Amino acid sequence: MRVLAFQGSPRSSGNTAVLLAEVVKGAREAGADVKEVTLHGKKIAPCTSCYACKAPGAAGCVIRDDMDGIYDDVMKADVLLFGTPIYWWSVSAQMKLLWDRFFALDYDRAMKGKRAALVLTYGSELPNLGPEGTEAAFRDICLYLSMECVGVVGACTESVPAAENAGAMNAARDLGRALVANRS
Ligand SMILES: Cc1cc2nc3c(=O)[nH]c(=O)nc-3n(C[C@H](O)[C@H](O)[C@H](O)COP(=O)(O)O)c2cc1C
Repeated sequence: MRVLAFQGSPRSSGNTAVLLAEVVKGAREAGADVKEVTLHGKKIAPCTSCYACKAPGAAGCVIRDDMDGIYDDVMKADVLLFGTPIYWWSVSAQMKLLWDRFFALDYDRAMKGKRAALVLTYGSELPNLGPEGTEAAFRDICLYLSMECVGVVGACTESVPAAENAGAMNAARDLGRALVANRS
């Protein structure tokens, strides 16, 4: 099982990176082959809404940047895993750039039937429309793309860093195992 994990926080040792790493650990323990991609620092231009990718016979996105390699990796993956902090009630800019550029993919070839999961960290305790709305949007995206949403793990980091949040870390490891578990 090939897992492609996107880390969407600019902080390489921050809460999102820590929680996502725990999911990756669980997946590797369960036998997955995981490729990790840190989005911050990648050259990913914003979608320009040119719609060239939707023209008859189009061969994907016309923008040449680091998405070239990422598109290849997405095609090869069985599981797409996303980790993002909540910024302004939504995903980070790094994650939004990636998701917008997914527009150029042939969803049936690239996404349909894959498993997907989301890791969120956020500052304000629940109820909090940031993580709640983002989870709802992610579940909708999975439905739209015919992907199976295996789960969403979140942690509020204002008073307890993710690394010290045993409940969230355990849930993250369990999610990693669930990503690769056989289902009947
Ligand atoms: C630009 C910015 C916007 C943020 N917006 C929100 C928000 O809307 N809701 C929230 O609960 N936390 C918000 N936060 C807090 C972060 O989501 C939280 O600190 C998160 O754990 C940071 O992840 P990191 O440690 O991986 O950087 C924001 C933080 C920043 C820097």
